[in-house]
Amino acid sequence: MVAKIIDGKALARVVRGECKIRADKLIAAGCHPGLAVLVVGSDPASRVYVNNKVRACTEVGVESTLLEFPADVSEEEVLMKIKALNTDPAVHGILVQLPLPEHISVRKVLETISHEKDVDGFHLYNVGSLVLGNSVFPPCTPYGVQKLLESEGIDVRGQNVVVVGASNIVGKPMALMLMQQEATVAICHARTRDLAQFTILADILVVAAGKPGLIVPQMVKAGAVVIDVGINRMPDGSIVGDVDFEGVKKKASYITPVPGGVGPMTVTMLIVNTLESAERVLEAGRHISSIN
Ligand code: GUN
Repeated sequence: MVAKIIDGKALARVVRGECKIRADKLIAAGCHPGLAVLVVGSDPASRVYVNNKVRACTEVGVESTLLEFPADVSEEEVLMKIKALNTDPAVHGILVQLPLPEHISVRKVLETISHEKDVDGFHLYNVGSLVLGNSVFPPCTPYGVQKLLESEGIDVRGQNVVVVGASNIVGKPMALMLMQQEATVAICHARTRDLAQFTILADILVVAAGKPGLIVPQMVKAGAVVIDVGINRMPDGSIVGDVDFEGVKKKASYITPVPGGVGPMTVTMLIVNTLESAERVLEAGRHISSIN
């Protein structure tokens, strides 16, 4: 079997086309959707991700504001900026790029963002909603994976899903979302003994471990759907996922490439969440032109 390659770039293009229509409608109604992106320090990977997010916003007509802070900025200053953005009616989404320098508490930062503008879906309120099965803003990467599966007509109900990686950003919310859709979910992580005994059972394998080459063909069931969330920069500058793509492609039924799989969908779902937020504001009559 040779797997069908799920083209995340192509799906992102389609969804961004829909986003443009939604953004145009909002603008015509007097509510220009706006996203504020905060980045602290000069981590090169964070800069690349943030620039991609800002570029994607511009493409669809979402007004983005990039706020850059030096690595030694005080926690207080970042929190004060977030509080100001919380009450700014031109801002419908606030995103603080992670990781943050050690002296800044991620928890404090995420809990300071108004849960109504938390388009990353990382606020305690949004995480709690996800646990209860009625997500306010689904976290962007798992949301993107969900869209990729839907686009191929892959029904997760009753399927054995194994999620490799238990991060707050990807693994945990991914597992919750799939469980909500009635999949049987197992989460594996760095301390899992004999990872292969779990992965081999997966009808759908989602890998978000940040370890290049972690998943080799012997660990994959024939005909499985393999979603690679990993983004690893190799010494030669190339970007690879966590899955041995060439090997596993010969065994799986579907596989996502890296780059060009999950990555473009993560950025796209951030825009979807920002538009959703702006639409809620407009519906409630709280948009900027009704305030002025
Ligand atoms: N760092 C890595 N992924 C993400 C993400 O999805 N959102 C934010 N804010 N930071 C990240």
